[in-house]
Amino acid sequence: MRDKLLLELLDFQEIYTKRESPVHRLYRIKSLAERCRRCPLHTSRIQTVFGFGNIASGVMVIGEAPGANEDLYGKPFIGKAGERFTSILRENGIERDRDFYITNVVKCRPPKNRDPEPKEIEACKPYLMAQIEIIKPRLFLALGRYSATWLLGYKHTVSMKEIRGKILISKFGIPMIATYHPSAVDHARSQSQREFYDRSLREDLKLFADKIKELRSK
Ligand code: URA
Repeated sequence: MRDKLLLELLDFQEIYTKRESPVHRLYRIKSLAERCRRCPLHTSRIQTVFGFGNIASGVMVIGEAPGANEDLYGKPFIGKAGERFTSILRENGIERDRDFYITNVVKCRPPKNRDPEPKEIEACKPYLMAQIEIIKPRLFLALGRYSATWLLGYKHTVSMKEIRGKILISKFGIPMIATYHPSAVDHARSQSQREFYDRSLREDLKLFADKIKELRSK
């Protein structure tokens, strides 16, 4: 029997076959997401945070889920974690609205910023699949272990220590880099842990920036 998720994916397939530009297709799927009631997060959200950035860049950044600021303004990574992320990238010559498209595994804010649950990630999957299908990235950056786990296709959440800092191959066969969620620096329990997260994040985002520049030069 075909489940609801698959039926919805087939709906998306139908959208793909129409002769629309990628921007138009993405806009249509965004408006579906804005009305989404596939999981309980729709009851507490102010709005759906679909994604933002340059869809022609060939680069996709995937975080975990929107926080309070994102829920309020409808744009991913604009709170404290986003500011840290944006400023490290800028130091490396990368501008978020120009050089990549950014979204999350889950498009609605989990209450009190708790981690997204497997059922919520599964319910939101068609939107992320559709974004990937339309944008056709040549490089992913996973921010945090939920995003890294999803992109790698693992069943259990991965240890970031083991996978960060190198080029991996995602379940889509597309290269990816995984790093700590930028908020890890703020949530560190000690000064040495804080320094470790900050250093790792800077190293990994430098690798990401270098990879974007390499892709651009090809
Ligand atoms: N954290 C995320 O993972 N995504 C956002 O959009 C904001 C904070």
